[in-house]
This record gives sequence, C-alpha cells and structure tokens, in this order.
Amino acid sequence: MVHIIDHPLIKRDLSILRARETPHGVFRATVAHLSTLLVYEASRTLPVLESQIETPLEAMAGYRIDTSVCVVSILRAGLGMVNGVLSHFPDAYEAHLGMYRDEETHKPVPYYKNIPDVIGQCHTFLVDPMLATGGSAVEAVNQLKQAGAQNMSFLCLIAAQAGIDKLHLHHPQLPIITAALDRELDGNAFIRPGLGDAGDRTFGT
Ligand code: PRP
Repeated sequence: MVHIIDHPLIKRDLSILRARETPHGVFRATVAHLSTLLVYEASRTLPVLESQIETPLEAMAGYRIDTSVCVVSILRAGLGMVNGVLSHFPDAYEAHLGMYRDEETHKPVPYYKNIPDVIGQCHTFLVDPMLATGGSAVEAVNQLKQAGAQNMSFLCLIAAQAGIDKLHLHHPQLPIITAALDRELDGNAFIRPGLGDAGDRTFGT
C-alpha cells in the first residue's frame, strides 16, 4: 500500500524543502515538522486499548496505544525524521542502520547496525527522506526482519515509482507513507524534480 498524503501543510513544507535557496537550518526544521505530519497519518492503524478514565465529572472509556514503538533511521538523512516520531511517541525505542548508496552501482553499502532486542514487540517506523531506487529501504527492511521486526511502516518525504515497485516486490505487505511521488529517476538515480541530497541539505555538508 502506498499512501501519498495530500494536505496543504504537507504541500507547503515540501515546497520549502524543494526550493534551492532554503538554508540548512530551515531545511532541518522543516524535515522535522513534515515528519510529524507523516507520523500522524502513519499512526492511524496502530492498535488502541480501551481503559477506564475519570474526567473531573464522571467515568468514561479512554484509550491508549496498545503497542511499543521503535523508530529506525537509515543514516544519515533518516536522522532528520526521528524527532517527528518522538514528538508523538517520546518513549519509543530507537534503532540505527548505517548505509550509503554507492555512486557507481547505486546499491546500498551497509556500515552500521544497532537494533534493540525488543523490536519484535514493537510497531516499527522506518524513516528515510528519499525512496529512489529502493535499494536502501529493501536492505533496511531485510535487516529489521532478520532482527525479528514484524509490524512496520516506511515513511519518506519523496518517492520515485521505481523505489515503490522495488519495495513492493521484496516486501509486499509494507505500508509506504510519503508526502509526494515524484516524476522520475534520472541517469544518476536522483529523484526528479526532487529536493537534492537530503542528507547534505539537512546537515549542511
Ligand atoms: C540517500 C537517501 C536514502 C538513499 C535512497 O542516502 O537518504 O538512504 O540515498 O536511495 P535508494 O532508494 O536508491 O537506495 P545517501 O546514500 O545519500 O546517504 P546519506 O543519507 O548518508 O547522505
């Protein structure tokens, strides 16, 4: 399933990110804000548990989220989206998967992995701003499934159809939540029109 979230706030934030002149401090803050909106949508299917609460006037049914949450960032650029998840789930577990895309082959090169043991009991939000060829996301989900992850969603800011197709092929049950589906990948496997290199623009490198 692909959810392309159509909302004025998301359109506005994404336009700030796409604009060439946006400085890295604004870019970083906007990635964080846009991520909170995507997490809001991605949380719709989380299980809730009814539990009795007392208002100042009477008893009534209240609700709490009936699962632990883990946020998994694909380094580096995914780090910029983590606080969006933590703003809704401050006690979430965190995992980090380091990988970069080889400039020649466009294949992901893993260099770091740290996943909490409790991942199997969590709903996992995997975050990375860009879904281009899909190689990095497929590799990340492979690593998470090996570690025992079961309930997952993938959140990105922009996606290309090639990346969606690849992720569906390897992990057909994984929900993909994105702010936009862009036109194409170019010869360098960059998303067009895109927003440039999310990692470089977030960190000012
Ligand atoms: C970017 C991006 C994704 C990956 C997407 O990372 O953040 O992780 O490329 O491409 P794919 O779908 O074709 O695999 P990059 O390699 O630029 O590393 P960085 O986050 O450290 O900048």
